[in-house]
Amino acid sequence: MAEHGHGHGHHGHGQMTPEQQKAMIEQEMRLVQHMSNVKYKIAVMSGKGGVGKSTVAANLAEAFQKKGFVTGILDADIHGPNIPKMLGVDGEDIMISNGEMIPVMTKNGLKVMSMAFMIDEVNTPIIWRGPQKSGAIKQFMADTAWGNLDVLIIDNPPGTGDEPLTVLQTLPNVDAVVMVTTPNSLSQEDVLKCVGMVKMLNIEDIALVENMAYYICPHCGERTNIFGESAGEEFANEMGIQYLGELPLTEKVGESANKDSTIVNSYAEEEVSKKFLNIVDDLVKYFLEE
Ligand SMILES: Nc1ncnc2c1ncn2[C@@H]1O[C@H](COP(=O)(O)OP(=O)(O)OP(=O)(O)O)[C@@H](O)[C@H]1O
Ligand SMILES: [Mg+2]
Repeated sequence: MAEHGHGHGHHGHGQMTPEQQKAMIEQEMRLVQHMSNVKYKIAVMSGKGGVGKSTVAANLAEAFQKKGFVTGILDADIHGPNIPKMLGVDGEDIMISNGEMIPVMTKNGLKVMSMAFMIDEVNTPIIWRGPQKSGAIKQFMADTAWGNLDVLIIDNPPGTGDEPLTVLQTLPNVDAVVMVTTPNSLSQEDVLKCVGMVKMLNIEDIALVENMAYYICPHCGERTNIFGESAGEEFANEMGIQYLGELPLTEKVGESANKDSTIVNSYAEEEVSKKFLNIVDDLVKYFLEE
């Protein structure tokens, strides 16, 4: 699918034809219509890859659902879509009816949409050319029929490049952006960049979660800050964003992903699961209530 630009003739596309203009307007209308029954939208981001965005997104979605919110999760990572695997619905087929994509439902009633559902072979990477990427992301966001949702969690691709930017620009009225970081300075620098980008889009409701902040030895119970002393709270205060706390590094997180389930779902009694539920309470308190 070609990118239509915004009619300024950049990217060497020249002026849009009337057909292209019509298609763009229709896509925007479908997006607005499909998002109109979604009460709250929360985007999960990070400057850096591999810090646990998808893990946090999947567990927050499960935690919201557990607390009685009708919840959906949009896996907007077109390169490495792994939300379906984390929720045990990979390999499912989505239904397409009248050009609308119907999300897959987990056994807990969570609605899931991911590019992974559109790839036949899990191991075949999709190669997108630049403009195709944002076109694909927009189409996929516009055409998913979520129905009525209380909360939609959006798992973003890593970084501050075109892809997360497209996702945030396309989403109407984001209620909160949750930044995920790990306690080392490199990723904090990236988060700073990320906060800057989000603020540039006029989104002021930003929160910080510090993942893999510490490790509790299962044998002796001693706490170790593997990636260094966590400075997340101080850092969040400096940036004027809401600090939502730290999450431990625990082998059960990785283990449950391989078991096609989130830790919130399969190990409800774990400290980390309780922390996810507390983060949901804070998100509601700080961003979703009037
Ligand atoms: N708190 C944690 N404890 C243990 N393992 C974790 C934790 N958080 C994430 N992981 C593991 O780290 C790996 C990366 O996590 P995840 O895929 O959620 O990161 P990501 O930021 O979404 O990555 P990407 O940038 O590739 O999208 C996964 O194997 C995941 O299971
Ligand atoms: Mg991810």
